[in-house]
Amino acid sequence: MSGTHSLDSFVEAARRDVDEALDRWLPTRPAGPPRLAAAMRYSLFAGGKRFRPVLALAAADAVANAHEDARRLALPAACALEMIHTYSLIHDDLPAMDNDTLRRGRPTAHVVYGEGLAILAGDALLTEAFALLAREPAVDAPAVHGRKLRTIALVSSAAGSSGMVGGQVLDLALERRPPDEDDAASALADVHARKTGALIRAAAGAGALMAGAAEGALAAIDDYATELGLCFQIVDDVLDVEGAAKDLGKTAGKDAVAGKLTYPALYGLEESKRRARACVERAHATLAREGLAGRLPAIATWVLERKK
Ligand code: IPE
Ligand code: IPE
Ligand code: MG
Ligand code: MG
Ligand code: MG
Repeated sequence: MSGTHSLDSFVEAARRDVDEALDRWLPTRPAGPPRLAAAMRYSLFAGGKRFRPVLALAAADAVANAHEDARRLALPAACALEMIHTYSLIHDDLPAMDNDTLRRGRPTAHVVYGEGLAILAGDALLTEAFALLAREPAVDAPAVHGRKLRTIALVSSAAGSSGMVGGQVLDLALERRPPDEDDAASALADVHARKTGALIRAAAGAGALMAGAAEGALAAIDDYATELGLCFQIVDDVLDVEGAAKDLGKTAGKDAVAGKLTYPALYGLEESKRRARACVERAHATLAREGLAGRLPAIATWVLERKK
């Protein structure tokens, strides 16, 4: 595909910007106990894909106007989303949750630092993310203050009890008590929309919002990102069946062992892949209908075709 090569260089540059900014904005000594700072950095700089920040920056570019630096305006939100996502992974891996020992190609945070510090490193990443959203970009213009407030509202509701945290609660509840056959499809779609979809929608929405998107473009980007979020978790479920730990950087085959309700468990592998493809087709159609492009179509294809 012609867009693949140019997406690679976009992703590479976005990751560089995000890593450099995270390093700068993350507390270092003496802002907190050194071991806490080390635990936060251990998980954050472990080689994640940086999918959510890349998406945030691509959404910002897609709606950018000629008078503002969209990258500069959206970079804090991109980094905040990666901090919140990383906290969600640290907690997801805890013995009381998915009980995983490998993440991003390394022993999980609780294996290295102990459960107490892993929990607290997650708490600190979540809290510092909102401090960052309030503080940066440090632009003293009423329009930018307004965008920052809307972004904080968007990201907090996506991360909170009706979003990611709520989805994680439902995920655990389904593991303990599987739903009746009639309810399984809607229960599963709901878990995926919340535990994974919510933060992906917030990443795209926050990037676009900070770049000053018009309401119509914001709504279209939200529709696009809703499809992307579902696709992302279907592919994650499929990779848990078909992938290998050396590529994924996390243990494969755990969902079946834990008795998780997943797309492959409910629909089988082929139908799961067909549904993931259908999400991307709908995402592409939404963009085309709204006249939005940039890197957004290629990012949807990346989500579908990724192997890690
Ligand atoms: C893993 O997310 C958890 C899910 C929500 C499926 P990623 O696949 O984005 O993990 P990293 O950030 O690359 O490690
Ligand atoms: C995780 O879903 C969603 C989060 C909010 C972290 P999974 O439990 O499937 O993620 P992995 O497979 O451990 O990365
Ligand atoms: Mg989980
Ligand atoms: Mg997990
Ligand atoms: Mg998974």
